[in-house]
Amino acid sequence: MKILGKYPGLRLRRNRKYSWSRRLVAENNLTVNDLILPIFVTEGKNKIEPIKSMPDVYRYSVDKINPIINKASKLGIPLVAIFPHTPKKKKNSMGTEALNEDNLVCRTIRKIKKNNPNIGVMADVALDPYTDHGHDGILKNKEILNDETIEILSDQALVQAEMGCDVIAPSDMMDGRVGVIRKALDQNNFKNVQILSYAAKYASNFYGPFRNAIGSNKKLKGDKKSYQMDYKNSHEALREVALDIKEGADFVMVKPALPYLDVIKSVKENFKIPVFAYQVSGEYSMIIKAVKNGNINKNSIIESLMSIKRAGASAMVTYFALQVASKLKR
Ligand code: PBG
Repeated sequence: MKILGKYPGLRLRRNRKYSWSRRLVAENNLTVNDLILPIFVTEGKNKIEPIKSMPDVYRYSVDKINPIINKASKLGIPLVAIFPHTPKKKKNSMGTEALNEDNLVCRTIRKIKKNNPNIGVMADVALDPYTDHGHDGILKNKEILNDETIEILSDQALVQAEMGCDVIAPSDMMDGRVGVIRKALDQNNFKNVQILSYAAKYASNFYGPFRNAIGSNKKLKGDKKSYQMDYKNSHEALREVALDIKEGADFVMVKPALPYLDVIKSVKENFKIPVFAYQVSGEYSMIIKAVKNGNINKNSIIESLMSIKRAGASAMVTYFALQVASKLKR
Protein backbone atom coordinates (compact mmCIF):
# COMPACT_ATOMS: atom_id res chain seq x y z
CA MET A 1 0.00 0.00 0.00
CA LYS A 2 1.30 3.43 -0.92
CA ILE A 3 1.40 5.80 2.05
CA LEU A 4 -0.08 9.17 1.10
CA GLY A 5 0.70 12.40 2.91
CA LYS A 6 2.98 13.05 5.81
CA TYR A 7 3.08 14.65 9.22
CA PRO A 8 2.59 17.50 10.07
CA GLY A 9 0.43 18.16 6.98
CA LEU A 10 -1.42 14.95 7.63
CA ARG A 11 -2.76 14.16 11.08
CA LEU A 12 -4.83 10.98 11.33
CA ARG A 13 -6.10 12.10 14.73
CA ARG A 14 -8.20 14.83 13.05
CA ASN A 15 -10.81 12.31 11.90
CA ARG A 16 -10.94 10.76 15.34
CA LYS A 17 -11.57 13.98 17.24
CA TYR A 18 -15.38 13.95 17.47
CA SER A 19 -17.91 11.19 17.82
CA TRP A 20 -19.76 12.35 14.66
CA SER A 21 -16.54 12.23 12.70
CA ARG A 22 -15.57 8.79 13.98
CA ARG A 23 -19.02 7.58 12.98
CA LEU A 24 -18.59 8.96 9.46
CA VAL A 25 -15.37 7.06 8.87
CA ALA A 26 -16.33 3.79 10.60
CA GLU A 27 -15.40 0.94 8.27
CA ASN A 28 -17.57 -1.67 9.97
CA ASN A 29 -20.77 -1.66 11.94
CA LEU A 30 -22.55 -4.26 13.96
CA THR A 31 -26.32 -4.60 13.61
CA VAL A 32 -28.96 -6.96 14.91
CA ASN A 33 -28.92 -8.62 11.47
CA ASP A 34 -25.48 -10.03 12.27
CA LEU A 35 -26.59 -11.99 15.33
CA ILE A 36 -27.56 -15.64 15.74
CA LEU A 37 -28.89 -16.66 19.15
CA PRO A 38 -28.10 -20.13 20.53
CA ILE A 39 -30.74 -21.62 22.83
CA PHE A 40 -30.40 -24.67 25.08
CA VAL A 41 -33.46 -26.83 25.67
CA THR A 42 -34.03 -29.47 28.32
CA GLU A 43 -36.65 -32.09 29.24
CA GLY A 44 -39.39 -31.48 31.78
CA LYS A 45 -41.85 -28.68 32.40
CA ASN A 46 -41.66 -25.17 33.74
CA LYS A 47 -37.88 -25.07 33.84
CA ILE A 48 -35.46 -22.24 33.28
CA GLU A 49 -32.19 -23.59 34.66
CA PRO A 50 -28.99 -21.59 34.99
CA ILE A 51 -25.89 -23.15 33.40
CA LYS A 52 -23.06 -23.08 35.86
CA SER A 53 -20.26 -22.71 33.35
CA MET A 54 -22.05 -19.94 31.42
CA PRO A 55 -23.33 -17.05 33.58
CA ASP A 56 -26.66 -15.55 32.36
CA VAL A 57 -27.31 -18.42 29.94
CA TYR A 58 -30.18 -20.80 30.71
CA ARG A 59 -31.65 -24.12 29.66
CA TYR A 60 -35.37 -23.93 28.88
CA SER A 61 -37.95 -26.66 28.96
CA VAL A 62 -39.88 -26.56 25.68
CA ASP A 63 -43.02 -25.11 27.32
CA LYS A 64 -40.96 -22.08 28.48
CA ILE A 65 -39.40 -21.25 25.14
CA ASN A 66 -41.92 -18.72 23.79
CA PRO A 67 -40.88 -15.62 25.76
CA ILE A 68 -37.22 -15.78 24.69
CA ILE A 69 -38.17 -16.45 21.06
CA ASN A 70 -40.69 -13.59 21.12
CA LYS A 71 -38.00 -11.34 22.53
CA ALA A 72 -35.47 -12.37 19.89
CA SER A 73 -38.05 -11.89 17.18
CA LYS A 74 -39.09 -8.46 18.45
CA LEU A 75 -35.48 -7.34 18.54
CA GLY A 76 -35.09 -8.48 14.93
CA ILE A 77 -32.62 -11.33 15.48
CA PRO A 78 -32.78 -13.27 12.20
CA LEU A 79 -31.91 -16.79 13.36
CA VAL A 80 -31.92 -18.94 16.49
CA ALA A 81 -29.89 -22.15 16.95
CA ILE A 82 -31.30 -24.97 19.06
CA PHE A 83 -29.12 -27.21 21.24
CA PRO A 84 -30.53 -30.07 23.35
CA HIS A 85 -29.56 -31.20 26.84
CA THR A 86 -30.48 -34.86 26.37
CA PRO A 87 -31.15 -36.92 29.50
CA LYS A 88 -28.68 -39.75 30.15
CA LYS A 89 -31.29 -42.44 29.74
CA LYS A 90 -31.95 -41.37 26.14
CA LYS A 91 -28.29 -41.62 25.10
CA ASN A 92 -26.76 -44.72 23.56
CA SER A 93 -23.76 -45.74 21.52
CA MET A 94 -25.45 -44.98 18.17
CA GLY A 95 -27.16 -41.75 19.22
CA THR A 96 -30.52 -43.01 17.97
CA GLU A 97 -32.40 -40.29 19.83
CA ALA A 98 -31.15 -37.96 17.06
CA LEU A 99 -33.73 -39.55 14.74
CA ASN A 100 -36.69 -39.35 17.13
CA GLU A 101 -39.32 -36.95 15.78
CA ASP A 102 -40.27 -36.13 19.33
CA ASN A 103 -36.79 -35.38 20.62
CA LEU A 104 -36.10 -32.04 22.25
CA VAL A 105 -34.85 -30.33 19.11
CA CYS A 106 -37.79 -31.50 16.98
CA ARG A 107 -40.38 -30.41 19.55
CA THR A 108 -38.68 -27.04 19.86
CA ILE A 109 -38.54 -26.49 16.09
CA ARG A 110 -42.26 -27.29 15.76
CA LYS A 111 -43.15 -24.96 18.60
CA ILE A 112 -41.09 -22.05 17.27
CA LYS A 113 -42.38 -22.45 13.72
CA LYS A 114 -45.95 -22.46 15.03
CA ASN A 115 -45.63 -19.36 17.21
CA ASN A 116 -42.95 -17.37 15.42
CA PRO A 117 -42.98 -18.37 11.77
CA ASN A 118 -40.90 -15.33 10.81
CA ILE A 119 -37.76 -16.12 12.75
CA GLY A 120 -35.27 -18.53 11.18
CA VAL A 121 -34.51 -21.76 13.02
CA MET A 122 -31.25 -23.61 12.75
CA ALA A 123 -30.32 -27.00 14.21
CA ASP A 124 -27.00 -28.82 14.40
CA VAL A 125 -26.53 -32.11 12.66
CA ALA A 126 -24.15 -34.22 14.74
CA LEU A 127 -24.59 -37.09 17.18
CA ASP A 128 -22.75 -35.79 20.27
CA PRO A 129 -25.83 -34.64 22.21
CA TYR A 130 -27.21 -38.18 21.84
CA THR A 131 -24.26 -40.57 22.18
CA ASP A 132 -23.22 -42.07 25.51
CA HIS A 133 -19.55 -41.63 24.54
CA GLY A 134 -19.98 -37.95 23.63
CA HIS A 135 -18.58 -38.20 20.10
CA ASP A 136 -20.19 -36.67 17.01
CA GLY A 137 -20.18 -39.97 15.15
CA ILE A 138 -20.30 -43.72 15.61
CA LEU A 139 -17.46 -45.09 17.71
CA LYS A 140 -16.03 -48.50 16.85
CA ASN A 141 -12.73 -49.87 18.15
CA LYS A 142 -11.63 -46.38 19.16
CA GLU A 143 -12.35 -45.06 15.67
CA ILE A 144 -15.08 -42.61 14.66
CA LEU A 145 -16.58 -44.19 11.54
CA ASN A 146 -17.07 -41.69 8.75
CA ASP A 147 -19.29 -43.27 6.09
CA GLU A 148 -21.57 -45.04 8.56
CA THR A 149 -21.99 -41.80 10.49
CA ILE A 150 -22.96 -39.64 7.53
CA GLU A 151 -25.81 -41.99 6.65
CA ILE A 152 -27.32 -41.35 10.06
CA LEU A 153 -26.60 -37.62 9.82
CA SER A 154 -28.49 -37.46 6.57
CA ASP A 155 -31.53 -39.01 8.28
CA GLN A 156 -31.14 -36.60 11.18
CA ALA A 157 -31.14 -33.69 8.71
CA LEU A 158 -34.31 -35.01 7.06
CA VAL A 159 -36.15 -35.36 10.37
CA GLN A 160 -35.23 -31.79 11.29
CA ALA A 161 -36.27 -30.49 7.87
CA GLU A 162 -39.62 -32.26 8.21
CA MET A 163 -40.17 -30.43 11.51
CA GLY A 164 -39.73 -27.10 9.70
CA CYS A 165 -36.07 -26.41 10.38
CA ASP A 166 -34.84 -23.68 8.01
CA VAL A 167 -31.09 -24.12 8.33
CA ILE A 168 -29.42 -27.49 8.73
CA ALA A 169 -26.00 -27.10 10.32
CA PRO A 170 -23.68 -30.10 10.14
CA SER A 171 -21.22 -29.59 12.99
CA ASP A 172 -19.69 -33.05 13.01
CA MET A 173 -16.72 -32.59 10.63
CA MET A 174 -17.16 -35.97 8.92
CA ASP A 175 -15.92 -36.02 5.30
CA GLY A 176 -18.58 -35.81 2.61
CA ARG A 177 -21.53 -35.10 4.85
CA VAL A 178 -22.65 -31.87 3.19
CA GLY A 179 -23.05 -33.59 -0.19
CA VAL A 180 -24.96 -36.51 1.27
CA ILE A 181 -27.26 -34.20 3.24
CA ARG A 182 -27.89 -31.91 0.24
CA LYS A 183 -28.82 -34.89 -1.90
CA ALA A 184 -31.18 -36.31 0.73
CA LEU A 185 -32.87 -32.93 1.20
CA ASP A 186 -33.31 -32.44 -2.54
CA GLN A 187 -34.72 -35.91 -3.07
CA ASN A 188 -37.27 -35.34 -0.32
CA ASN A 189 -38.61 -32.05 -1.52
CA PHE A 190 -36.57 -29.86 0.80
CA LYS A 191 -34.79 -28.01 -1.98
CA ASN A 192 -35.11 -24.72 -0.13
CA VAL A 193 -33.74 -25.88 3.19
CA GLN A 194 -30.38 -24.18 3.63
CA ILE A 195 -27.14 -25.80 4.78
CA LEU A 196 -24.80 -23.96 7.07
CA SER A 197 -21.70 -26.07 7.17
CA TYR A 198 -19.39 -25.88 10.16
CA ALA A 199 -16.66 -26.16 7.53
CA ALA A 200 -13.67 -25.11 9.60
CA LYS A 201 -14.34 -26.38 13.06
CA TYR A 202 -11.28 -26.80 15.21
CA ALA A 203 -10.57 -29.34 17.94
CA SER A 204 -10.65 -26.50 20.43
CA ASN A 205 -10.27 -26.19 24.16
CA PHE A 206 -12.85 -23.41 24.13
CA TYR A 207 -15.89 -25.74 23.94
CA GLY A 208 -15.72 -26.80 27.59
CA PRO A 209 -18.65 -24.78 28.97
CA PHE A 210 -20.91 -25.89 26.07
CA ARG A 211 -20.23 -29.55 26.79
CA ASN A 212 -21.28 -28.84 30.34
CA ALA A 213 -24.42 -27.09 29.05
CA ILE A 214 -25.54 -30.07 26.94
CA GLY A 215 -24.28 -32.60 29.48
CA SER A 216 -21.67 -34.31 27.30
CA ASN A 217 -18.55 -33.17 29.14
CA LYS A 218 -18.12 -35.97 31.65
CA LYS A 219 -19.06 -38.47 28.98
CA LEU A 220 -16.51 -37.65 26.30
CA LYS A 221 -14.13 -40.54 25.81
CA GLY A 222 -10.83 -39.28 24.43
CA ASP A 223 -10.82 -36.18 22.22
CA LYS A 224 -12.19 -35.05 18.85
CA LYS A 225 -8.85 -34.57 17.09
CA SER A 226 -9.44 -37.31 14.52
CA TYR A 227 -12.27 -35.29 12.95
CA GLN A 228 -12.12 -31.67 14.11
CA MET A 229 -9.26 -29.57 12.72
CA ASP A 230 -5.82 -29.14 14.20
CA TYR A 231 -5.36 -25.59 15.44
CA LYS A 232 -1.90 -25.46 13.90
CA ASN A 233 -3.49 -25.24 10.44
CA SER A 234 -5.15 -22.56 8.36
CA HIS A 235 -4.64 -23.56 4.71
CA GLU A 236 -6.42 -26.78 5.48
CA ALA A 237 -9.49 -24.70 6.39
CA LEU A 238 -9.61 -23.46 2.79
CA ARG A 239 -9.68 -27.05 1.51
CA GLU A 240 -12.52 -27.86 3.92
CA VAL A 241 -14.47 -24.81 2.78
CA ALA A 242 -13.86 -25.49 -0.92
CA LEU A 243 -15.18 -29.03 -0.59
CA ASP A 244 -18.26 -27.96 1.35
CA ILE A 245 -19.12 -25.31 -1.22
CA LYS A 246 -18.84 -27.88 -3.98
CA GLU A 247 -21.04 -30.25 -2.01
CA GLY A 248 -23.76 -27.61 -1.69
CA ALA A 249 -23.22 -25.51 1.44
CA ASP A 250 -25.11 -22.21 1.35
CA PHE A 251 -22.89 -20.65 3.99
CA VAL A 252 -19.87 -21.82 5.93
CA MET A 253 -18.90 -21.38 9.55
CA VAL A 254 -15.55 -20.88 11.22
CA LYS A 255 -15.43 -21.98 14.84
CA PRO A 256 -14.26 -20.78 17.35
CA ALA A 257 -14.15 -17.10 16.38
CA LEU A 258 -11.80 -14.87 18.36
CA PRO A 259 -8.73 -17.14 18.29
CA TYR A 260 -9.39 -17.80 14.58
CA LEU A 261 -9.94 -14.36 13.06
CA ASP A 262 -7.15 -15.08 10.57
CA VAL A 263 -9.13 -18.07 9.28
CA ILE A 264 -12.36 -16.05 8.93
CA LYS A 265 -10.49 -13.41 6.96
CA SER A 266 -8.77 -15.86 4.71
CA VAL A 267 -11.97 -17.80 3.94
CA LYS A 268 -13.76 -14.56 3.09
CA GLU A 269 -10.94 -13.29 0.88
CA ASN A 270 -10.58 -16.55 -0.97
CA PHE A 271 -14.21 -17.47 -1.58
CA LYS A 272 -16.45 -14.36 -1.40
CA ILE A 273 -19.28 -16.35 0.11
CA PRO A 274 -21.26 -15.74 3.30
CA VAL A 275 -18.98 -16.70 6.18
CA PHE A 276 -20.37 -17.05 9.67
CA ALA A 277 -18.39 -17.37 12.88
CA TYR A 278 -19.22 -19.03 16.17
CA GLN A 279 -18.16 -17.16 19.27
CA VAL A 280 -18.11 -20.31 21.37
CA SER A 281 -18.93 -20.99 24.99
CA GLY A 282 -15.34 -20.64 26.22
CA GLU A 283 -14.99 -17.24 24.58
CA TYR A 284 -18.31 -16.19 26.09
CA SER A 285 -17.43 -17.39 29.56
CA MET A 286 -14.02 -15.72 29.57
CA ILE A 287 -15.49 -12.37 28.62
CA ILE A 288 -18.60 -12.46 30.79
CA LYS A 289 -16.69 -13.61 33.86
CA ALA A 290 -14.04 -10.91 33.42
CA VAL A 291 -16.81 -8.32 33.01
CA LYS A 292 -18.62 -9.55 36.12
CA ASN A 293 -15.38 -9.52 38.10
CA GLY A 294 -14.79 -5.95 37.04
CA ASN A 295 -11.56 -6.94 35.29
CA ILE A 296 -12.68 -5.55 31.96
CA ASN A 297 -15.35 -3.09 30.86
CA LYS A 298 -18.57 -4.48 29.37
CA ASN A 299 -17.94 -2.67 26.08
CA SER A 300 -15.41 -5.45 25.47
CA ILE A 301 -18.42 -7.55 24.39
CA ILE A 302 -19.19 -5.35 21.39
CA GLU A 303 -15.48 -5.02 20.69
CA SER A 304 -15.13 -8.80 20.48
CA LEU A 305 -18.07 -9.05 18.07
CA MET A 306 -16.85 -6.12 15.99
CA SER A 307 -13.49 -7.84 15.52
CA ILE A 308 -15.32 -10.85 14.10
CA LYS A 309 -17.19 -8.52 11.73
CA ARG A 310 -13.96 -6.76 10.77
CA ALA A 311 -12.36 -10.11 9.94
CA GLY A 312 -15.12 -10.61 7.36
CA ALA A 313 -17.94 -12.58 8.99
CA SER A 314 -21.45 -11.82 7.70
CA ALA A 315 -23.03 -13.08 10.89
CA MET A 316 -22.04 -14.66 14.18
CA VAL A 317 -23.45 -17.12 16.64
CA THR A 318 -23.04 -15.58 20.07
CA TYR A 319 -24.44 -16.12 23.55
CA PHE A 320 -24.42 -12.32 23.83
CA ALA A 321 -26.97 -11.99 21.01
CA LEU A 322 -29.97 -10.86 23.11
CA GLN A 323 -28.03 -8.49 25.29
CA VAL A 324 -26.23 -6.93 22.32
CA ALA A 325 -29.40 -6.68 20.22
CA SER A 326 -31.10 -4.77 23.05
CA LYS A 327 -28.14 -2.46 23.35
CA LEU A 328 -28.02 -1.80 19.62
CA LYS A 329 -31.73 -0.98 19.64
CA ARG A 330 -31.27 1.72 22.28
C1 PBG B 1 -21.10 -30.33 18.75
C2 PBG B 1 -20.99 -28.89 18.98
C3 PBG B 1 -20.07 -28.28 19.86
C4 PBG B 1 -20.36 -26.94 19.85
C5 PBG B 1 -21.44 -26.72 18.98
N1 PBG B 1 -21.81 -27.95 18.43
C6 PBG B 1 -19.05 -28.86 20.75
C7 PBG B 1 -18.12 -29.88 20.31
O1 PBG B 1 -17.81 -30.04 19.13
O2 PBG B 1 -17.65 -30.59 21.21
C8 PBG B 1 -19.64 -25.94 20.69
C9 PBG B 1 -20.29 -24.65 20.91
C10 PBG B 1 -19.72 -23.84 22.01
O3 PBG B 1 -18.70 -24.18 22.63
O4 PBG B 1 -20.34 -22.80 22.27
N2 PBG B 1 -21.18 -30.85 17.51
